[in-house]
Amino acid sequence: MHIRKLVLNGFRSYSHAEFMPEPGLNLLYGANAAGKTNVLEAVFLCALGRSHRTSRDVELIGHGLAGAYVGMELETKSGVRLIEIKLRTGDDVNRNPKDKKQVFIDRQRADKAGDLMGVLNVVMFSPEDLALVKASPEVRRRFMDMELCQLYPAYYRKAAMYNAALRQRNALIKEAFNDPIDPEVLDMWNAQLARTGAEVMRSRLSFMDEISTIASDMHRRLTGGKEQLFTYYEPNVPFEAEDAEYAIYDALEASREDDIRRGFTTRGPHRDDIGIKLGDTDVKVYGSQGQQRTAALSLKLSELALMRGVVGESPVLLLDDVLSELDDDRQKALMSSAFDCQCLLTATGTESAAAKKAAALFEVRNGDIKKVIQ
Ligand SMILES: Nc1ncnc2c1ncn2[C@@H]1O[C@H](COP(=O)(O)OP(=O)(O)O)[C@@H](O)[C@H]1O
Ligand SMILES: [Mg+2]
Repeated sequence: MHIRKLVLNGFRSYSHAEFMPEPGLNLLYGANAAGKTNVLEAVFLCALGRSHRTSRDVELIGHGLAGAYVGMELETKSGVRLIEIKLRTGDDVNRNPKDKKQVFIDRQRADKAGDLMGVLNVVMFSPEDLALVKASPEVRRRFMDMELCQLYPAYYRKAAMYNAALRQRNALIKEAFNDPIDPEVLDMWNAQLARTGAEVMRSRLSFMDEISTIASDMHRRLTGGKEQLFTYYEPNVPFEAEDAEYAIYDALEASREDDIRRGFTTRGPHRDDIGIKLGDTDVKVYGSQGQQRTAALSLKLSELALMRGVVGESPVLLLDDVLSELDDDRQKALMSSAFDCQCLLTATGTESAAAKKAAALFEVRNGDIKKVIQ
């Protein structure tokens, strides 16, 4: 799939801009703070309904404006799609909170955020992703969830239901200091968490099974066969596929006193992780920086390959400032994995080897994205 046109109105530093990338490799260059990441962020927003760098949508609205608009024309194997997102600050009186973010797909209002999943598929790669291996478990959970949401749109709803139940249970537990907990109410939330959490765990398990084989091949290639990478799902609650629901339920029962003392739910998939080993060695703890970065690159590139396989067409690849962070061999590996993708690549200049191969160059400056005739 590829983006034909992106329109930004009142989005971040853009009051009005249009961007028409080519199907192949597009280089966006410009000084620091010129607005390059803002463009990739708008694309990411069209794919997942949220920013990759903030959970506060109001930050996306241009300073002093009441709202922002992002519109995208997308060409896919099933035809041309139109994605539009309207954001409002919500300052206007009587505005329904649901109207703060409106999503339109082919001019129809999508009533659930989940409807957007899978229309546009993206893989985003930024310098923070190179820290995937040594970052906190939360970052690795997000890695699993972002991919799962795009590949299996129903996952979005499952994860949202789990998170909603988790918030309710946590609120109840916090109150326990002042107000003894009604065991029936707690039991109801335990059951709800067990049911929705089991689906989250089963999805993550099969996702990690699929991606670990690809990641292991990728890593062997990146290291010339020298290193053997093992990645696997590390659920907070151990389970067998068919008894996931009971496993969570029992864990919640057993941790009840502990949870009340600590004031939050201590067990469940919201505390999952990914295990990453080179041979027998835990890379998160003992890997060198180079090994950690290569393992991260292997995982990210597998994401691309897996998505291509499951969806049946290439996602749009967003590479934000990563080339300057990689040595020549890793740059080459990255660019060769991107072979049949539309790729939006940002850099401060046009000197990189990859840039020379770009199908189109765009200069980003003063709230404008200008195509440069080569
Ligand atoms: N909501 C906003 N309204 C107006 N300008 C913004 C907003 N958010 C960020 N900016 C501006 O966008 C610029 C940063 O853009 P960014 O895309 O991150 O730059 P870079 O080209 O370095 O990737 C900064 O100048 C910042 O002030
Ligand atoms: Mg940037």
